[in-house]
Amino acid sequence: MEKESFIDGVLVHSQSSTTFSLDSSIISIQDLNAWYGQTQALKQVNLKIYKNQITAFIGPSGCGKTTLLRCLNRMNDLIPGFDLKGSIELQGENIYAPGYSVNKLRKQVGMVFQQANPFPQTVLNNLKLPLEENFRKLGKAQLKQIAIDKLKDTGLLEEVKDRLQQSALKLSGGQQQRLCVARALAIDPEILLLDEPCSALDPISTSKIEALLIRLKERYSIVIVTHNLQQAARIADYVVFFYQGEIVEQGLPQEIFITPRMKLTSQYLQGMF
Ligand SMILES: Nc1ncnc2c1ncn2[C@@H]1O[C@H](COP(=O)(O)OP(=O)(O)OP(=O)(O)O)[C@@H](O)[C@H]1O
Ligand SMILES: [Mg+2]
Repeated sequence: MEKESFIDGVLVHSQSSTTFSLDSSIISIQDLNAWYGQTQALKQVNLKIYKNQITAFIGPSGCGKTTLLRCLNRMNDLIPGFDLKGSIELQGENIYAPGYSVNKLRKQVGMVFQQANPFPQTVLNNLKLPLEENFRKLGKAQLKQIAIDKLKDTGLLEEVKDRLQQSALKLSGGQQQRLCVARALAIDPEILLLDEPCSALDPISTSKIEALLIRLKERYSIVIVTHNLQQAARIADYVVFFYQGEIVEQGLPQEIFITPRMKLTSQYLQGMF
């Protein structure tokens, strides 16, 4: 069932997920606190990420969205002074437990960044490189076929089929970003993290990414950070609103956007920050 409402005077559709099951979480975050030196960036975060759903993180600049996203594949580990308490379980295993393999984690959790960052190589190599790394036993022909299949999955093949041997940097920004999604999927992750993937894109490229994510959630669990509330309303199955490192409110899009419980949430939706 689709529900319509207005955000900022613009009609939005939020999908009410009749199949949405609150039992089927793939990630469970418990009592998570995180610091960069003295600065506490996340406070007592408790959250589940649901399987085959799109979860959107929203909230004003500096509220900890990226920090939490990067905790999910331990990308903050190398930042000097970064410290974390609490647990993040992926399929029941704490990814911060001693001995947990970060390599294994990165294969299960793919990431796409705000600025498209294809390798300065051919379009095909952007996929072949991670595939070679991940499927060491496959021959060249098989790797090429999987690379082409991934391009097909992301709807990019038609647009780039004559440019497979050209530099990826010659593609449009939107095509480069979809190539980055395809590259993240090349290692066959369970989860796809995207940090403001459309912020540098025009509306048409944005809608292609949104359509792509809606298709991909059949196979992957997706977490997206976005400043675009209409985007969250269009594609999210679950919405999490952060303010100053804390989750203020989380729920189905219609709850957050139409009947928010917290005053801070309504103020944010009204553009008061
Ligand atoms: N590498 C870092 N070193 C020190 N402090 C950091 C670092 N990265 C983020 N912070 C701080 O942590 C807090 C949360 O930042 P974060 O990047 O997670 O916010 P955000 O919600 O993603 O913001 P934006 O919407 O602007 O991207 C901020 O106070 C920020 O200044
Ligand atoms: Mg951010």
